[in-house]
Amino acid sequence: MTALAYYKENKERFLSELIELLRIPSVSADSKHKGDVVRGAEFIRQKLSEAGTDVAEICKTPGHPIVYGEKIIDATKPTVLIYGHYDVQPPDPLELWDSPPFEPVIKDGKIFARGASDDKGQMYMHIKAFECLNKTGSLPCNVKFMIEGEEEVGSSHLEIFINENKERLAGDVILISDTSIISNDHPSITVGLRGLSFVEVELTGPNRDLHSGIYGGAVDNPINVLCKMIADLKDEKGQITIPGFYDDVISYNDVERRLINEAPFDLEDYKSNLELDEVSGEEGYTTLERIGIRPTLDVNGIWGGYTGEGAKTVLPSKAYAKISMRLVPNQDHEKITKLFADHFQRAAPKSVKVKITLHHGGQAAMISTDSIGYKAAAAAITDAWGKRPIPTKEGGSIPIVALFQQVLVLDSILLGVGLNSDAIHSPNESFGLYNFYTGIETMIGFHEHYAAMMERE
Ligand code: BES
Ligand code: MN
Ligand code: MN
Repeated sequence: MTALAYYKENKERFLSELIELLRIPSVSADSKHKGDVVRGAEFIRQKLSEAGTDVAEICKTPGHPIVYGEKIIDATKPTVLIYGHYDVQPPDPLELWDSPPFEPVIKDGKIFARGASDDKGQMYMHIKAFECLNKTGSLPCNVKFMIEGEEEVGSSHLEIFINENKERLAGDVILISDTSIISNDHPSITVGLRGLSFVEVELTGPNRDLHSGIYGGAVDNPINVLCKMIADLKDEKGQITIPGFYDDVISYNDVERRLINEAPFDLEDYKSNLELDEVSGEEGYTTLERIGIRPTLDVNGIWGGYTGEGAKTVLPSKAYAKISMRLVPNQDHEKITKLFADHFQRAAPKSVKVKITLHHGGQAAMISTDSIGYKAAAAAITDAWGKRPIPTKEGGSIPIVALFQQVLVLDSILLGVGLNSDAIHSPNESFGLYNFYTGIETMIGFHEHYAAMMERE
């Protein structure tokens, strides 16, 4: 039996297994779910083992576990290292979900659940593609799996793990499905990801909350100050005002920019999907460029004062915000974080004290289209989706990709098949059944093309 025939015979079971996995609330950010994250790891370990890996083990870390598996058929054959994550973002706000986040439902050809697309559904395609190849005796290369439980919280223990296991993780290419395609009619392969610097700021004004009548107008309000300071971080052209912020940003020539804008993109669809009358961003750049090749800064959360029911007249002592900066290749996230912190401290009026906490971050990634890995991915997409893929630069971040390059000296192929409309990190996250199934076919094809192309080298 061929791997594809095996897939066709078993695809309903593959989907029910994914549903089982989606029922596990493996929220890495929430310590309440520590046990569920372990259950998620155990599920993956068992499925790897059932699919026929020689090794399938749980590697404990001071944080959440990493699942490692491998099948070595022949040491002289190429090795594909598959990376994915089984942890998910918190499902909040719960009241905005049409069905509970950890009770998957299938509706309109999609499966709805937290993690459906990011990344359980996409990661699981690889385990099932491996099963199809292995159980039919047609695995053409060695395969290693490294599935982590801390991607959504910064992968700090994975960084240690790869440094400590360089030999065990040796391979020829890394394969990841944790990104999106343009649309099912326009399959694409991600060749760029943005980096990330994430900081939290705390402003303290008076030593305690005050009556906003007795003191209002005479004492600076830290929330007002914070709003002004945040507003000042961008100018009227949408450029970030932090001195030195753009120093290392690569500029693209007209030919490269034309190429980026040749990707199919309908601004009207984009706006109507978001129910927006207008898009906005850095002046002089298109939406695709703003996402793909330009850095940006956004407040991700802001709080302080009284937010409960009714009115409470209070001039708060403290104000807080969480701020992300999305970075482009060549910008160093640690340098940018420092530039931000210095600038924000300097920009604050004497009436407030500023405290800045650094969170996880990471470098941007750039992937070459000249490698065998990319060519094998393009061939696999062409077979499964019936169209040649378009290389795209995406705005999201997978910081570990740059570390794989640095520590393991391995390029990653970003063969994600999600859609931007999957609503990852949002309520009602979903993953198309067509994407799940076509994704499995794509991953089977990747191994076949990759092994054949490596052989010819
Ligand atoms: N899978 C996403 C990243 C992504 C999604 C890249 C879509 C491109 C297209 C990943 O799980 C994620 O959410 N990453 C975080 C960063 C991380 C350090 C928390 C992000 O981009 O915010
Ligand atoms: Mn992800
Ligand atoms: Mn994510």
